[in-house]
Amino acid sequence: MEGKPARRIALRAAERDLRLLGPGAPPSRVWTFGGDPWPVIRVRKGERIVATLHNDLPEHTTIHWHGIRLDNAMDGVPYITQPPVEPGTRFTYDFAPPDTGTFFFHPHCNEAGQVGHGLAGVLIVEGDEATPFDAETLLVAKDWRLDADGRFLPLVTDRGAARGGTFGTLRSVNGAAPARHAVPARADLRVRLLNLDSTRILEAGVEGAEAAILAIDGNSIPPLPLDTWRMGPAMRLDLVLRTPAAGATARLVDYNVAEPFTLAEFAAEGEPLRSGPLRPRALIPSALPEPDLGGARALAFELGSAAAAPPLAAASPEDALSRDLAASLCLGERTFWAINGASWPIDGHRMPPPPLATLKRGASYRFLIRNATPHPHPIHLHGHTFKVLSSSRRRHPPYWADTVLIDAKERVEIAFVARRGDWMFHCHILEHIETGMMGYLRVA
Ligand code: C2O
Ligand code: CU
Repeated sequence: MEGKPARRIALRAAERDLRLLGPGAPPSRVWTFGGDPWPVIRVRKGERIVATLHNDLPEHTTIHWHGIRLDNAMDGVPYITQPPVEPGTRFTYDFAPPDTGTFFFHPHCNEAGQVGHGLAGVLIVEGDEATPFDAETLLVAKDWRLDADGRFLPLVTDRGAARGGTFGTLRSVNGAAPARHAVPARADLRVRLLNLDSTRILEAGVEGAEAAILAIDGNSIPPLPLDTWRMGPAMRLDLVLRTPAAGATARLVDYNVAEPFTLAEFAAEGEPLRSGPLRPRALIPSALPEPDLGGARALAFELGSAAAAPPLAAASPEDALSRDLAASLCLGERTFWAINGASWPIDGHRMPPPPLATLKRGASYRFLIRNATPHPHPIHLHGHTFKVLSSSRRRHPPYWADTVLIDAKERVEIAFVARRGDWMFHCHILEHIETGMMGYLRVA
């Protein structure tokens, strides 16, 4: 890293007041990295980022750079890739994102609590546009779980954690009620949509404009006309919309609810910039290592429920003590879920369980992941961009992603080239992380 000019960023994790219920209503005590409501970092591909996390929170934290193929030491998983950043201390992340796209970052401890209170940020790596778009809009969808006075309600409930997750009470886009965005008429608008909710699965579609998908989790695909696209927590979508004529409005809508929910309105104004139908141009793809499907080793993973008695690594009284300590330090207390029969133990960060699998660096792997539960799970692998090859439920051309939504009883196959390190492999419904649906791969 030395020698490269660096983008220096200070991220101060702290409690702050934000008026989530609206301008006149009481403020909510959110946790943020100092943005309003979250920072948006924009860099060029390959630009070096030196980001110092200052922890002014009452509990330890870290930053995980979701979807970035960085060195394992910068991956931000407490006890696995780095010591937790204790209150009053700091840690510096130093890396150069190798791929363009729409990414984000978040803590990797007490995720339901910390991310649930708002702790996250957006990372945009530029350099994928051969010709610039006429306009761009960034939309971050996240719900908040608040009472009528703006106080946070419990972010983890046994009922939610054991099912599809605990839902928020208030939906928001960019931390506020969905907005009307003024956009140029008959223009090509790039929309970056991030689902940063802890729980909610969106089904994104566009009304009143032609639209195409340009990238999934930041990875370019040959433009795909948008019907609707399902996005679990952590998933991102880059779209292009041909905005309507001046005076008309297009809408981005979530259909995965009883009453379709408008995430954004695009109000077209001014002279038309383009004519004719939308001819989406592909984003420049990143140079991702292509797995050798013929020579790949195949491994099977089953997403399931936890065994009746939650496995505790703690056996002796001292272990029980350290387990209580770990629990008090923000780890989960209940176990509902498992991967291949193994649940991430509640004290797993302090005493990590064995890896789910040991892989060889540079070798290609095919993972067949089967969801044996009645709930969908968005499954994320750290430090890699994998190819989603096929699904037992739907037909799609293969595409690159870092998180794949697997529906109840669905089987999905992914493939990738293994990178050295201990890489977390988990569901991104945050309560599921904390109640067992997490493990890691060791790539040696
Ligand atoms: Cu965005 Cu381990 O996750
Ligand atoms: Cu899950």
